[in-house]
Amino acid sequence: MQPPPAGQTRTQICRWHHYASLAELSQSATRRIQQSARHAIGSKGRFSIVLAGGSTPRKVYELLRDADTDWSRWQVYFGDERCLPADHPERNSRMAAQAWLAHVAIPPAQIHIIPAELGPQRAAAAYAKVIESVAEFDLVLLGLGEDGHTASLFPGREWGAAPGSPPVLAVLDAPKPPPQRVSLSATRLSRAGAVMFLVSGAGKRQTVVDWRAGKSIPAVSIAPSGGVDVFSDVETNLP
Ligand code: 6PG
Repeated sequence: MQPPPAGQTRTQICRWHHYASLAELSQSATRRIQQSARHAIGSKGRFSIVLAGGSTPRKVYELLRDADTDWSRWQVYFGDERCLPADHPERNSRMAAQAWLAHVAIPPAQIHIIPAELGPQRAAAAYAKVIESVAEFDLVLLGLGEDGHTASLFPGREWGAAPGSPPVLAVLDAPKPPPQRVSLSATRLSRAGAVMFLVSGAGKRQTVVDWRAGKSIPAVSIAPSGGVDVFSDVETNLP
């Protein structure tokens, strides 16, 4: 096993779950999210979840519309956002609203959108205040880019993996458009009871191989004490 990325104190523990299709992956991930919500609501009366952007989680979000749960107990956060107008079709918050959040009874005050329309620095400062009171998220959902990025933590840029890193990063030059983004740091995303990566698409094969071989990609910087679960439909021929 390789050492963790620079400054990171904990090595990532990673459990891989392989599925034959995005549909199967999505059904399984949706069940896992519901289990996590049931457990948190049953034990402490509330459930905090951090949402992933990108296109892979859309199916999961659609399936969650039919979840049998007390929506009034959910607190929804976002792991990253693109600095675009609030109603822009490429906003992660808009995708989540269209696919899921606009269809269920979560009180609007419990859906904590990153105000990325304010620009990266102002939005990062504002969101740091929003998440300040959450010691640990119950569940964090993340995606994986073909270059190994997760949330808006990109190769060759700051990941916020070292202890003492700020909770929220202003991203000014992301290689994936738009260049201006806001992202929770690796340290903050790792303060979670559970972390699930949703990974789909043949174009991510080499990235998954690299990740499993211990290469230092941003996804490796997410290292909660309980490890991460990767739900993937990417065929690698690895056991
Ligand atoms: C974003 C993301 C990003 C995404 C991955 C995977 O805003 O783009 O949050 O980290 O999750 O790029 O995206 P896909 O699911 O579309 O492959």
